[in-house]
Amino acid sequence: MKKFVIKPKIYFNEGSMKFLKEIKGSCAFIVSDSVMEKLGYLQKTIDYLNEAGIKSAVFTEVRPDPDVKVIAAGMRRYLEAHADTHADIIVALGGGSVIDAAKGILYSLWQFSKAAGKQFKRPLFIAIPSTSGTGSEVTNFSVITAEGEKVCIVDEWLAPDIAILDSACIQHVPQQVVADTGIDALVHAIEAYVSTEATPCTDALAEKAVQLIFENLRTLYNDVSDSHARECVQNASCIAGMAFTNANLGINHSLAHALGGTFRISHGRANALLMSAVIEYNADLNGNTGRYAAEKYAKLAAVLQLPARTYREGAVNFMQAVKDLKKSLGIPNGIRQLGIDQSAFENELGNMVELAFRDRCTSTNPRQPSREDLIGIYKKSF
Ligand SMILES: NC(=O)c1ccc[n+]([C@@H]2O[C@H](COP(=O)([O-])OP(=O)(O)OC[C@H]3O[C@@H](n4cnc5c(N)ncnc54)[C@H](O)[C@@H]3O)[C@@H](O)[C@H]2O)c1
Ligand SMILES: [Zn+2]
Repeated sequence: MKKFVIKPKIYFNEGSMKFLKEIKGSCAFIVSDSVMEKLGYLQKTIDYLNEAGIKSAVFTEVRPDPDVKVIAAGMRRYLEAHADTHADIIVALGGGSVIDAAKGILYSLWQFSKAAGKQFKRPLFIAIPSTSGTGSEVTNFSVITAEGEKVCIVDEWLAPDIAILDSACIQHVPQQVVADTGIDALVHAIEAYVSTEATPCTDALAEKAVQLIFENLRTLYNDVSDSHARECVQNASCIAGMAFTNANLGINHSLAHALGGTFRISHGRANALLMSAVIEYNADLNGNTGRYAAEKYAKLAAVLQLPARTYREGAVNFMQAVKDLKKSLGIPNGIRQLGIDQSAFENELGNMVELAFRDRCTSTNPRQPSREDLIGIYKKSF
């Protein structure tokens, strides 16, 4: 049975971080990173909470693609800072890595308390994303690396209660991060749209996200000071998050998790490098596995006002539009261009395919792949 749930209350627009001044509570635990600290956003968060009479303890050791060691360090910091009483608020301030780490810390604290037979009162969980992005501020997902493998924890309990989309927080994002995270959001929308779990609700969200990204990501990439483009891409990222937390994803993400974890490629870039081959595989225009995905890609072409008189024409035009967008964002043409040696890549293929095959995103891909199919997509993307 399919269902649709969105938990967080969402505050929009530049300056919405001020909402923190209205929060009720007494002590907060803030999860963030050194970049947020350097850019002054962490201090701003502490100051706003202070104005609300809330004291804060901070953990700023999150690194991109957080692993279990970061989660353990965050738990230690939490227990040290809140030895007598639990925090009543958790704030995640940063990119997807920070929000996922906060989810991981919160989830582990809950599980450890349960195992010890203790009560754990879930704090109010506030996410303030600083990339656009993962959509993690509205999703039930947390991606944590364990023994070199990216593992998705999925639980409705993980979704933040409040998401604050303050576009001021994303005004210093480096150009390459704008491109990679923007493409990640686009892949979320596309994969949710063709997912076997898609519903009319997730379709509506995915269509809007695709439209906003095509209309604004190039502009934002070329001029990160463009506040309209910034807000549009930030909204698109959040909307795509709402779509995929309900419809799940597909093999673009399964293959990207394995590729990114193996060769230390950022999540968004790994998705970007694979997406053309994945769309082509799913559309299967020269095969006989069905038209479902190709017809949906054609619908996205129509959303972008590209010719789509037949499903074939629409799917081809959508694929070309994706290629053109990637090119204009400086995304390399293949994995090889990252300086990865071909034999090193081929040595890892078997392992990456096994990881991708059992990734939880694979089950909702519109076309069920064989291991050989996945090898083919990796080779084509190299
Ligand atoms: N939970 C989910 O639903 C979900 C979905 C997709 C991806 N992910 C995971 O999220 C992680 C990637 O997150 P991301 O793409 O947001 O990147 P990120 O959080 O890893 O950040 C990338 C880099 O940009 C920096 N940065 C962040 N915000 C900045 C700002 N405003 N100004 C300047 N620099 C800034 C960070 O410090 C970091 O160095 C991966 O681990 C991925 O697997 C999670
Ligand atoms: Zn993603």
